Amino acid sequence: MKKYTHINDIDHLPSWIKEAKALKKNPLQNQELGKNKTLGLLFFNSSLRTRLSTQKAALNLGMNPIVMNISEDAWGIEFGDKTVMNGSTAEHIKEAAAVVSQYCDVIAVRAFPSLTDKEKDESEQVLTAFLKYATVPLINMESATGHPLQGLTDAITISENTTKKRPKVVLSWAPHVKALPHAVGNSFIQTMQKMDVDFVIANPKGYDLNPDITKNTPIYHNQKEAFKDADFVYAKNWSSYEDYGKIIKTDTNWMIRKEKLGKAKFMHCLPVRRNVVVEDAVLESDHSLVIEQANNRTFAAQLVLKKILEND
Ligand code: CP
Repeated sequence: MKKYTHINDIDHLPSWIKEAKALKKNPLQNQELGKNKTLGLLFFNSSLRTRLSTQKAALNLGMNPIVMNISEDAWGIEFGDKTVMNGSTAEHIKEAAAVVSQYCDVIAVRAFPSLTDKEKDESEQVLTAFLKYATVPLINMESATGHPLQGLTDAITISENTTKKRPKVVLSWAPHVKALPHAVGNSFIQTMQKMDVDFVIANPKGYDLNPDITKNTPIYHNQKEAFKDADFVYAKNWSSYEDYGKIIKTDTNWMIRKEKLGKAKFMHCLPVRRNVVVEDAVLESDHSLVIEQANNRTFAAQLVLKKILEND
């Protein structure tokens, strides 16, 4: 595999899940594969899980990870073509990506959206530029519109915890104080569309995600109706897609409470704001899968790195 930037880079989800579970059972089985190989992790935005789990995955494979908070510590990067660089940017992505490719055998990038310019965000300017100008394989550690490492993680977690052949999975919008990206929701939808699950989305009116991504997945504007007979409830906030990047509702009625879940397991990518998105009683109950989900980030990343290294 030459890149992992989108859920569509997964050629066969069931076999990926099976392989990730085998890696989880024996994480150090491929220590020779990554020997003398360097993984460069470039963060334009904050992270806890992605930063640590991807390094851990690299170490499990015998790789050497190196990390840079690129927007804070590097020169300001210019992405425009033919720009006269007499402003705040000091280095063009053409040189930056090519130079990082001299030091690293694989590059992983995190770059969030602006949430002010839909067209620019959907062009995936940063990811696309790295794909174009880097000369080594690229991994998306959450871009403007997708978080495929999280999507793969979530599929592994559902597969591990289901007691049914075809569980019901609900992706529910939940309130938040800040305008958040659509990336996690998008990748979760795209992953569930590849999985043998009964999948629905619940969000207030005005919060429907990109129809090119939701496609024919049922969308409920009534959370209670959507949660009926659910086996997994995945909560996530996102800002409006239609009124791009705006918060149009902060209705606390959409917060996930224990009595809403019934028998359903609770999932969230983390970080989560307690008693805003979900109440303490859910996170502190045996319904919650959030810590196991975070643990599985390592094995999703390890599988992706393994597939890239095997292709080398
Ligand atoms: N879920 C997730 O991507 O967490 P971080 O933002 O902490 O990496």
